[in-house]
Amino acid sequence: MAAATNIPTHVAIIMDGNGRWARRRSLPRHAGHRSGVASVRRSVELAVERGVEYLTLFAFSSENWSRPREEVSKLMSLFVEALQREVDELHRNNVRLEFIGARDQLQSGLVEKIESAEAHTAANTGLRLLVAVAYGGRWDIVEASRTVAAQVAEGSLAVEDIDAETFAAGLQLSGLPDPDLLIRTGGERRISNFLLWNLAYAELFFCDTLWPDFGDEEFDAALAYFAKRQRRYGHTGEQMEAAG
Ligand code: IPE
Ligand code: IPE
Ligand code: MG
Repeated sequence: MAAATNIPTHVAIIMDGNGRWARRRSLPRHAGHRSGVASVRRSVELAVERGVEYLTLFAFSSENWSRPREEVSKLMSLFVEALQREVDELHRNNVRLEFIGARDQLQSGLVEKIESAEAHTAANTGLRLLVAVAYGGRWDIVEASRTVAAQVAEGSLAVEDIDAETFAAGLQLSGLPDPDLLIRTGGERRISNFLLWNLAYAELFFCDTLWPDFGDEEFDAALAYFAKRQRRYGHTGEQMEAAG
């Protein structure tokens, strides 16, 4: 069990290792992605049980469009299928589901499912589950820059009033707290263009477990790791202790 205290408010996960999981079983990569859906389901349950308020999952990056066409198309179908199958259960559990990423790059069938799932769960007050599809941290920052530039061009924002706060208002996670803890499965120790702005002060937890094998043990290990960190945000340890 994780310590009941010091639970991160916002957990972000880079769900990596599906392909290798499948390869080890001599299965097609897609079998790994399919199997990964069960880990998503369990992670959502765990987040709810442990008292996490926001869970952001990296499901498909801007760069993942470069994968073989068949893998991409099967992944998109899997998203549609999983949404269809899981939304009612999420709704019953009071989860509010939202998507971040370049929605205009997705096929219309998927966008319809996304919009209806978001509308269906919009009034829920439990866990906020954000799924990043066709998402890239650089894309997010470029989009926010466009928003700010448009405000300046129309005269509603002065150049000297641009600061971190006005800028972040144009990002996908606008209005939400930054992730406190980032988990990456699959053994790589990199960010792979995930939430570049919002991860500025996240604690980073990397594990070798491949995403389809991720479950209670790894989630609780990540929470335990987080609970032991002292977050200083540039201050000294003594300053943080004095502030309680
Ligand atoms: C993560 O697993 C899922 C996506 C990126 C869509 P991978 O498919 O990247 O799995 P590996 O890294 O090849 O094992
Ligand atoms: C990151 O995994 C993206 C997702 C998990 C959706 P990748 O497998 O695409 O990352 P790289 O290519 O190994 O950096
Ligand atoms: Mg990978």
